Amino acid sequence: MSHSTRIIIAPSPGGPDALRVETRDLAPAGRGKVLIDVAAAGVNRPDVFERMGLYPPPQGAPEGLGLEVSGHVRETGAGVTHVKPGDPVVALTAGGGYADIARADAGCVLPAPAGVDLVHAAGLPETVFTVWSNVFDRARLQPGERFLGHGGASGIGTTAIQMAKAHGAHVIATAGTPEKCDLCRQLGADLALNYRSDDWAQAVKAAGGADVILDMVGGDYAARNVSVLNMDGRLVMIAFLKGAQAELDLMRVMLKRLTLTGSTLRNRPAAEKAAIAQGVHAQVWPWIAAGKLRPVIDSVFTLEDAAKAHARMDAMAHAGKILLTP
Ligand SMILES: NC(=O)c1ccc[n+]([C@@H]2O[C@H](COP(=O)([O-])OP(=O)(O)OC[C@H]3O[C@@H](n4cnc5c(N)ncnc54)[C@H](OP(=O)(O)O)[C@@H]3O)[C@@H](O)[C@H]2O)c1
Repeated sequence: MSHSTRIIIAPSPGGPDALRVETRDLAPAGRGKVLIDVAAAGVNRPDVFERMGLYPPPQGAPEGLGLEVSGHVRETGAGVTHVKPGDPVVALTAGGGYADIARADAGCVLPAPAGVDLVHAAGLPETVFTVWSNVFDRARLQPGERFLGHGGASGIGTTAIQMAKAHGAHVIATAGTPEKCDLCRQLGADLALNYRSDDWAQAVKAAGGADVILDMVGGDYAARNVSVLNMDGRLVMIAFLKGAQAELDLMRVMLKRLTLTGSTLRNRPAAEKAAIAQGVHAQVWPWIAAGKLRPVIDSVFTLEDAAKAHARMDAMAHAGKILLTP
C-alpha cells in the first residue's frame, strides 16, 4: 500500500520563497527501510545550501528537503528487527524529512531517547551524528583535553559544547553576539568568545590553546586554527562558511604534528552511517539519559511555514535548532 505525504522541494534554486509544498505517494518501506510518521523535522544549514542549488542530494536519496526527523514508526521493511510500528524513534534521513511521512535506512533509526520531548528530539540526529563522528571518532577528543568549537550557538555548536563537556573536556566556544556567548556558557563552555569583537585566536592561545577544534568557518580561520592548536592537535572541518580556500603555515603543521581532517555525513554509505548510529546509541544516549545533553530548540514552525524557518536561518537570527512540525 502506498502512503500519501506532503514533502517540501525547491524546484528552482533561490531564497526561502523557492520552497514549495507538494504531495507524493510514497512506496511501501522496502527491505531495510523504515517509514516514520513525522512528529518534527530538524532544519539544518545544509538544507539552505540545497535550497540554493549548492548541495545536490546524493543519488537515491528520498525526494525533498530534510535530513532528520522524530516520530513513530509507521511501517518496517523486510529485515528490520530493532524497531516496530508504533515505536517512538529519531532518524537521520538522506532527504525528505520535511514531510508527514519520511523514509530512513533502518541503520539510521534509533529509539527516541528517554526524557526528551519527541518533537524536540528531531533536533538531535544530524548534529549528534556529525559531532560524534567528527569530534569523537575522527579527532579522538579525550577527557581533560581542550576543545574549541566554532559556531558555538549553532545547532552543531550547542550539541558539540554539551557532548565535549559530558566527555570531560575543557570547552571553548566562539559565537557572534554576547547573547549567543551567554548561551554557550550556560551549555557548559568554560570560555566563550565573541568572534566579532574579540581576537579569538589570541584569547585561545592565552588560555592554553586547543587540542581539538571543530570548524565550520574555513577561509582565514584555517591558519588561525593551526596557530592555536597544541602539540599533536587535531583540526576537523565540517563546512567552510567563509570559503574553501586557505593558506597554511605547513611548518607549524609539521612541528606541532597536527592532524587536519574533515568529513561530510550525507553522502556516506549506509553501513558507515549505521556504524555512527551504533556509536551514538552506545555513547551519547546515556549522556541524554543522565541530563548532560539536550537539544537546544530555537523555534518551531509548521511545515507550511518552512519558508519562514529558512528565512530565520538565512538571517543567522537563531541559536540552537529550528524545527518543522507537520
Ligand atoms: N560535514 C557535515 O557532515 C555537516 C553536517 C551538518 C552540518 N554541517 C555544517 O555545519 C555548519 C553548522 O550547521 P548548523 O545546521 O548547525 O547551522 P547553523 O545553526 O546555521 O550555524 C551556522 C553557524 O556558523 C557561524 N558562522 C557563520 N558565519 C560565520 C563567520 N563568518 N565567522 C564565524 N562564524 C560564522 C554562526 O555563528 P553566529 O550565529 O554566532 O554568528 C552559526 O553559529 C553548517 O555550515 C553546515 O553546513 C556539516
